[in-house]
Amino acid sequence: MSEIKTVGVLGAGLMGAGIAQVAAASGFTTRVREVSDALCQRGKAGIEKQLNKAIEKGKLTAEQRDATLGRLSFTTAVKDLKDCDIVIEAVIEELDVKNAMWKELDALCPAHTIFASNTSSLTIAAMAAATTRPDRMVGLHFFNPVPVMKLVEVVKTVTTSEESFKRAFDFAKKLNKEPIAAKDNSGFVVNLLLVPYLIDAINALEHGVATVDDIDKGMMLGTGYPMGPFTLLDFVGLDTTYKIAEIMFDEYREKRYAPPPLLKRMVMAGMFGRKSGKGFYDYSQDPPKVNELGL
Ligand code: 3HC
Repeated sequence: MSEIKTVGVLGAGLMGAGIAQVAAASGFTTRVREVSDALCQRGKAGIEKQLNKAIEKGKLTAEQRDATLGRLSFTTAVKDLKDCDIVIEAVIEELDVKNAMWKELDALCPAHTIFASNTSSLTIAAMAAATTRPDRMVGLHFFNPVPVMKLVEVVKTVTTSEESFKRAFDFAKKLNKEPIAAKDNSGFVVNLLLVPYLIDAINALEHGVATVDDIDKGMMLGTGYPMGPFTLLDFVGLDTTYKIAEIMFDEYREKRYAPPPLLKRMVMAGMFGRKSGKGFYDYSQDPPKVNELGL
């Protein structure tokens, strides 16, 4: 079984940058691909900021930061990931976009290279089918914020070989994560349960059960969740949640995954949550205030 030394990451957004940071910090040579130099710069600056914060807190030394950054490189060319032993894809939830990259890499990467997708809701089978290596396609689903959240779902689809699954599972452990095995059903374990919960919270708000902050307070203080559902929705991104719910609804045709109209209206209005400054809360002030939606 060939050892993983070099890691490729497709995408330097919230998830891709987090995955790259963790891989480089764990000692892997890590190559990150983004579509433009500006996005490469943004991804790199975000990682530097996180590492500097850790130094300020006394959790990292300057030498460790420099070693991590020294193992990281950025590129705009997908082909620069051709020598990687594993490639982790963390681009937008569009199957065509993902599969175009997999096809390009499939023709370039050596036979032992594992392809791993960080998809939240698409099936691994839909990506495996686009390559000539369906036995080496897995899911590696990380959680936001990647450097903090311990879980990785390792997903085996119908074509994944035992060896590839084991390599991916062991790799997740080397990232100092706690992997769990999941089948290739849309949403795997966590989103299968989390997405209906977030949808129910929006439905409860629309039905006037309680206010945004009282629903959040209820779930935090009543069940010990670190964030209430609306804070979490804003944190994950309303656009992202909407997309995930749509894909899951399409897969299962069950009402519990149907994105609520309010979520759709907010996404149409550009209220994506924290990243756009407004969602269920308004982040233009500190602490954020509930965004009055005129319900
Ligand atoms: N990036 C990196 N590190 C972060 C961070 C970020 N965005 N936000 C917080 N942290 C770090 C802090 O630096 C701090 O580190 P330290 O312990 O070394 O000092 C630690 O996390 C705790 O942060 P804080 O004390 O500032 O704040 P909290 O104690 O409130 O924790 C939280 C923040 C970890 C984000 C916590 O609120 C939490 O666990 N929230 C739930 C997150 C969650 O559910 N994520 C999963 C979303 S679903 C998903 O990702 C799947 C996808 O498919 C949708």
